[in-house]
Amino acid sequence: MNGHQSPSFEFQGTILDINNPFNMKAKILWGLRMELKGKVALVTGASRGIGRAIAIALAEKGCNIGINYSHDEKNARLTENLCRDNGVKTLLVKADVSKRDEVRRMVEQVVNEFGRIDILVNNAGILGEHSNPLEITDEEWDRVLSVNLKGAFIVTQEVLKYMKKGKIVNIASIAGKGGISPHVGAHYSASKGGLIALTFNLARHLAPNILVNAVAPGSVETEMLASVDKEGLKKLTMTGGIAKPEDIAKAVIFLLENDHVTGEVLDVNGGRLMD
Ligand SMILES: NC(=O)c1ccc[n+]([C@@H]2O[C@H](COP(=O)([O-])OP(=O)(O)OC[C@H]3O[C@@H](n4cnc5c(N)ncnc54)[C@H](OP(=O)(O)O)[C@@H]3O)[C@@H](O)[C@H]2O)c1
Repeated sequence: MNGHQSPSFEFQGTILDINNPFNMKAKILWGLRMELKGKVALVTGASRGIGRAIAIALAEKGCNIGINYSHDEKNARLTENLCRDNGVKTLLVKADVSKRDEVRRMVEQVVNEFGRIDILVNNAGILGEHSNPLEITDEEWDRVLSVNLKGAFIVTQEVLKYMKKGKIVNIASIAGKGGISPHVGAHYSASKGGLIALTFNLARHLAPNILVNAVAPGSVETEMLASVDKEGLKKLTMTGGIAKPEDIAKAVIFLLENDHVTGEVLDVNGGRLMD
């Protein structure tokens, strides 16, 4: 069921009808469920993988969405169609998040279309080619840091020109918290550790009107891990599996629906790292 479309819904095994004028419980619970309905969200790196799952989850909640991508327009259009299936409005916005001019234009496009931005999900990220520290070139280091860390910052800065009240979620990684895998390089870990520090800093600066949190996935079944041995990764978790993009999207929705959490890094790693 799409949370924003049906006049009745199930709660703890009971079907509640919000059209029943005497059922206040149904109306209150329905109101809580629709907290995100009508909000405007911008999701970076939403052409596939985790970003796509987050965009769809937001669409299911009734958000209108700016769908960012940098190269893959075909897949970004597929994300857009999947979001529109939920009856929401969408806007495809092409921009490399590491480029200030493109980011400024992207944010202006979203604001021109929807009038404001209430939710920002900084998801766009790259792994880099090398994991051996001796093989990482200056160029590769700069590129990974530019997209994963500086990109999240400049998108946030440009969005803050318009967002007076809202929520920001950064997609970090277990690699930024000391969890390490053989396929992860120093540049990637440093970028995600930096993103977590950025989350803490912004959470303090922007409270109480803007809440800033992060989700730190372990391994997620996406193209980013296409060339990695999945069986080996599964053995690292307590749950014995690898997360699906939808598992990360659910954590993002939890943070967006909660008005009393800020400066939090929510681990979704199957118990690979406990702190
Ligand atoms: N998969 C995992 O195991 C895992 C684990 C922990 C954290 N994460 C993090 O989760 C996020 C999403 O990862 P994923 O697994 O979904 O990766 P993915 O499948 O490789 O997708 C990456 C997305 O980011 C976009 N992107 C890349 N560079 C960009 C740029 N410069 N500007 C704008 N968009 C850009 C891509 O769009 P285009 O193709 O159009 O460029 C694509 O939509 C990343 O931040 C990643 O670090 C992933």
